[in-house]
Amino acid sequence: MTTQNAEKIISSAMTVGTPFYFYDMKLLRQTVAAARAAAANPMFRIHYAMKANVEVPVLEVMREAGFGIDTVSGGEISRAVDCGFNPARIVFAGVGKSDAEIDLAIEKGIGCFNVESIEELEVIAGRARALGKKARVALRVNPNIDAHTHHYITTGLAENKFGIALEMLDRAIDIATSSADIDFRGLHFHIGSQITTLRPFEILSERINDLQDRYESRGIRFATINVGGGLGIDYENPDTNPIPDFEGYFSTFSKCLRIREGQEVHFELGRSMVGQCASLITRVLYVKHGLEKQFAIADAGFTDLIRPALYDARHLIENLTSDATETVIYDVVGPICESSDVFEKDTTLPLTSRGDLLALRSAGAYGSVMAMQYNCRSLPRSVFSE
Ligand code: LLP
Repeated sequence: MTTQNAEKIISSAMTVGTPFYFYDMKLLRQTVAAARAAAANPMFRIHYAMKANVEVPVLEVMREAGFGIDTVSGGEISRAVDCGFNPARIVFAGVGKSDAEIDLAIEKGIGCFNVESIEELEVIAGRARALGKKARVALRVNPNIDAHTHHYITTGLAENKFGIALEMLDRAIDIATSSADIDFRGLHFHIGSQITTLRPFEILSERINDLQDRYESRGIRFATINVGGGLGIDYENPDTNPIPDFEGYFSTFSKCLRIREGQEVHFELGRSMVGQCASLITRVLYVKHGLEKQFAIADAGFTDLIRPALYDARHLIENLTSDATETVIYDVVGPICESSDVFEKDTTLPLTSRGDLLALRSAGAYGSVMAMQYNCRSLPRSVFSE
């Protein structure tokens, strides 16, 4: 945490009240610039996965960078259009698209549906016909690759609900290429999130190469290949490693994926774009001395940041206001009436007192978007560095 950000946070806590998400917009711009530079290949297109964070200033940075946008609901499509994204640069994924969402997407003229089943493909074709339009479609393939990430955020295994199994792809492609209501664009993949080695992306590229060879020998070409998102961030060292390894990530695909002449490669990055740019700021309400433990009870809970409770995720915790040299081991917990409302057990902090401000770092992705109002709590506010 830079001194400048810490000062701004301390003064905002006074005026805005806690808890709130604090966004370092300079870091966000630097991250986006690094991603753009690493993806300089003219056939690469980045679609920001807005499920990670939908704050309007964040979306504006993505739009100004020239990114398209990856959506998973009608609500996200509407928000992206309201925010000025070109509908032709919107892609729409999800295993359960409702008829109303499909109609909205067709009427707005989105760039591509990422279709997750043969059943859905047939419904989209029917809705397009009813509306007198053609729907652009990519088929999401479940490549059965283990991304070695948390089981709640791995998506590319045969047992997951996502995508079309390889065994059923022939039939899906037949339907997509023969339907007068479908403009078949290509294939879509997404193997999971918070992937911290490049090996799964190499395996994915190899899998795609095999598929392309197989279908080309039958005369089928793909205008687009969408490799999804998934690049992880360093939750342990947000200050020493604030920008993910975009170079390594994009060059893996440049090296391993055999891109065809004129083919576009689409990327749907969420976490890696926004994860490090925000912290959840919370005030310590009580330091409770238990029989065996010291509890730092914060005014934020899992309603504000659910990742620790839901995925056992670790967010580095910093005390921004204590200048004590003595350290103490605390369980940092929230106020909600659930035993799972724990941000971290047995974490070492400088001696902490009532009124201190804590920062839960690396909370820009899947933080504010997953907040909820359980216990009639208010949603956390947002403060932007500029
Ligand atoms: N594309 C598709 C089809 C996706 O399902 C996802 C994320 C992404 C792109 C973006 O992936 P990213 O680049 O952010 O890894 N709430 C969980 C993460 C859920 C990810 C869902 N899908 C968490 O807090 O870890």
